[in-house]
Amino acid sequence: MLTMNFHTLSLRAVLFLGLYHSGRRSLTSASGLQEPQPHKIAVVGAGIGGTAAAYFLRQEFGPAVQIDVFEPGTVGGRLATAKIGGHEYETGGAVIHPLNLHMKHFIEKLGIPPRNDVPSKMAIFDGKELVFEQSDWFIVNFFRMLWRYGFSFLRMQMWVESVLDKFMRIYQYQQFGYAFTNVERLLHAMGGDGFLTLMNQTLEEAMMGEGFSQVFINDIVAPITRVNYGQSVRINGFVGAVSLAGADSGLWAVDGGNKRVCTGLIYNSKSELIHAKVTSVTMKSRPSKRGNAVNLYEVNYVGESGSAHSLYDIVVIATPLHQGKSDITFSGFCPPIPSHYPGLYHQTVTTLVHGKLNMSYLGTTEPASKFTVSDILTTDSKYCDINSLSSLDPVTIPGGYKRPRASHTTVWKVFSPQPLTQDQLQRIFLSYDSVSETPWLAYPAYRPPHRKTPPFILHDRLYYLNAVEWAASAMEMSAIAARNVALLAHHRWHQQPGKIDQEDLHTRLRGEL
Ligand SMILES: Cc1cc2nc3c(=O)[nH]c(=O)nc-3n(C[C@H](O)[C@H](O)[C@H](O)COP(=O)(O)OP(=O)(O)OC[C@H]3O[C@@H](n4cnc5c(N)ncnc54)[C@H](O)[C@@H]3O)c2cc1C
Ligand SMILES: *[C@@H]1O[C@H](CO)[C@@H](O)[C@H](O)[C@H]1NC(C)=O
Ligand SMILES: *[C@@H]1O[C@H](CO)[C@@H](O)[C@H](O)[C@H]1NC(C)=O
Repeated sequence: MLTMNFHTLSLRAVLFLGLYHSGRRSLTSASGLQEPQPHKIAVVGAGIGGTAAAYFLRQEFGPAVQIDVFEPGTVGGRLATAKIGGHEYETGGAVIHPLNLHMKHFIEKLGIPPRNDVPSKMAIFDGKELVFEQSDWFIVNFFRMLWRYGFSFLRMQMWVESVLDKFMRIYQYQQFGYAFTNVERLLHAMGGDGFLTLMNQTLEEAMMGEGFSQVFINDIVAPITRVNYGQSVRINGFVGAVSLAGADSGLWAVDGGNKRVCTGLIYNSKSELIHAKVTSVTMKSRPSKRGNAVNLYEVNYVGESGSAHSLYDIVVIATPLHQGKSDITFSGFCPPIPSHYPGLYHQTVTTLVHGKLNMSYLGTTEPASKFTVSDILTTDSKYCDINSLSSLDPVTIPGGYKRPRASHTTVWKVFSPQPLTQDQLQRIFLSYDSVSETPWLAYPAYRPPHRKTPPFILHDRLYYLNAVEWAASAMEMSAIAARNVALLAHHRWHQQPGKIDQEDLHTRLRGEL
């Protein structure tokens, strides 16, 4: 969405790209023992997390198991589009980092191309005027930043890259089949105590600790956390680093809309999509042929044809268990499993407006016909009642497409904490003819120091994916959690604890790279 064009991918990171595709882990290596395979698996939720889980579960358990994916709404969840002015536009999760290897792998596997790239330009608005405006010239930007902030900008990118280098280790671990029982262990395996400390600090504290100035944090870092997570620099340092990586160059999206990946994964994994809302999961014990008791899960659901239930060997919950997000009752479990874990989701309202921008709103005298900025970020100021304002490209870019200048009527996307009032719309736009509003409970409200995150394992064979969002909420994080949960489900089914929660993997696997 916004690109600062200073970043080059590290060599280490590029090496991992190669590793990912070499497919080191032979998938059937561990199975084929005497344990029977599961018959039926339920996945609750068809966002990127649930559909990626269906894909990885198919990989782990082979062709025979039945995989049912429950979804009452549109497949894609928080990856969604809306139609305005004759084209579709992303309203939820929009951009993907070039090193998000699972997302990359999915589109390659599914044969969906990335969307054509349209260069973007960024400006920062303090509620009264534009305090920074990116130039078309790399060298101009470079000196503007150097003049104002010294080497802070470059140091920030080095800091983000050092976090990213450690983050990339997860792909190697997963390739070798390693899994983790909770978010803290997963983070520790990637980045050691440093990552856990990041989780426990605000981004502001973490960056001050690295010697960044308050001015730099307020002017440059806060606008980025506001556009990506609708929150201030008081979010945790880990999600903060993910957010800053979201300002790298080379960001991409999926041609035709990101949610296509979700429908593609359901199809590719030969899963059954059940249009229904899961209301409860109940533990049932049944005697097995060998005489010992086995646990089965009864999934109760309500669809168009009324309510029904079905028994499963394994269940994966792929929707946040939080207030306002989903309402699933768990019964028969000891200790009990709550419907809602502590912590709230933060509201971000996406408003698409087909209209003409009011340049005076931005406090600039620049003529609209010369204004080519696509992304206007905002500082954490009492005068800013929006988080960002972006000129939006459709999900499919026609050949020869050029983003219209601000003097034309075009589609703008506004992120704000509250729905825009008539008055706000009239201040921001000179004229507009259609408005499409999507209120999201978008991502966790991050307030470190963090309490323990919910576990990936809720019960014996009942798994929970969205715990990962408390480290950071992003498409790739859900995909990483999906693979982790599929590996956990496999290893625990086949009683192979040796690949779970191993310490010091980085040193042990170093020789393997
Ligand atoms: C405005 C916005 C901008 C964002 N920008 C980005 C970005 O640029 N890049 C990025 O990587 N990420 C971004 N994100 C975050 C990203 O969209 C999410 O992290 C990711 O899509 C979460 O996927 P998920 O599958 O885990 O959850 P969801 O997409 O929420 O999927 C959960 C699904 O479960 C379903 N469900 C709920 N209850 C039940 C039930 N009882 N029974 C059955 N199904 C149920 C829901 O209908 C939903 O479809 C953004 C998010 C928002 C809201
Ligand atoms: C995070 O902070 C809390 C409270 O300050 C503390 O109890 C906990 O041990 C810390 N966790 C880590 C991993 O540092
Ligand atoms: C445009 O912005 C200016 C400055 O905020 C405001 O005074 C004016 O009413 C806005 N709307 C129009 C239609 O000019």
